[in-house]
Amino acid sequence: MKHLLKLQDLTTEEITDILNLADQLKYEQKHGIPHNHLKGKTLGMIFEKASTRTRVSFETGMYQLGGYALFLSSSELQIGRGEPVQDTARVLSRYLDGIMIRTFAQKEVEDLAEYGSIPIINGLTDYCHPCQVLADLMTVREYKNKLDGLKMCYIGDGNNMANSLIVGCLKVGMSVSVACPEGYYPDSTVLDFAKAYPNFKLVNDPKTAAEGADVLFTDVWASMGQESEAEKRKIAFNGYQINDEVMSVANQDAMVMHCLPAHREEEITAKVFEAHANEIFDEAENRLHAQKAVMVKLMS
Ligand code: CP
Ligand code: NVA
Repeated sequence: MKHLLKLQDLTTEEITDILNLADQLKYEQKHGIPHNHLKGKTLGMIFEKASTRTRVSFETGMYQLGGYALFLSSSELQIGRGEPVQDTARVLSRYLDGIMIRTFAQKEVEDLAEYGSIPIINGLTDYCHPCQVLADLMTVREYKNKLDGLKMCYIGDGNNMANSLIVGCLKVGMSVSVACPEGYYPDSTVLDFAKAYPNFKLVNDPKTAAEGADVLFTDVWASMGQESEAEKRKIAFNGYQINDEVMSVANQDAMVMHCLPAHREEEITAKVFEAHANEIFDEAENRLHAQKAVMVKLMS
């Protein structure tokens, strides 16, 4: 494993290795056991979109590993004035030991990896959010003690989160049922990937997808960059909500997860959100541990 660009590039074994290391690093951090695997190393963090969790968890994680992280806002980099990503990649490779980038186009992340000579980590694109889903899998495994054989249900927009959840959950042996309105399906490359798995289902009805689910996910109706479509999307996604009715057909001990930020009474009711707040904030915490594992795997 040289980069983390998208979950399709990882084997099941590589995902499991990351989750195991993440569990170990979490234990070490909680017990004050030093784990300076990246002493003297520097991570550059390029942000072309806003972030709370990704920025703070990468920056803190790098510090806990004995390294240093630089926050690089694209609006203050020459990349924001049109310097090609190919040149940025080659320059930054001379200074840094790794780059985390959050941007719009997946191609930009793939180009950084192609032209640079250091590990590239995808911190969210319009296409996928692999770091989030590694933390999600870690959290589900913590609560359920396994992944293989569980049923995951995703309700809402076929966006970056849906794309990464489908790939990640199928790779670790989970059943996947996704409910999206027509016109808002997951990416065609992801649907092609999922075709090979008989335990994948894409439907329009949220309750059909939620039936017998062990863990339910949702995400915002309008992602970053889609703010101008928000009103249109509110109409399209009406009913695509995790609420009591949807929960009534899931397994009794089903988990509810959300990558955050959440819009209460849109994709999830405040009641369901608060009833599952422990899981949701454990999930947010696990961004730190899962990403530390990714950085150790790629940069040490
Ligand atoms: N879930 C997530 O990636 O959060 P941020 O946008 O705050 O980084
Ligand atoms: N789908 C959301 C996820 C945010 C973490 C977005 O792209 O804005």
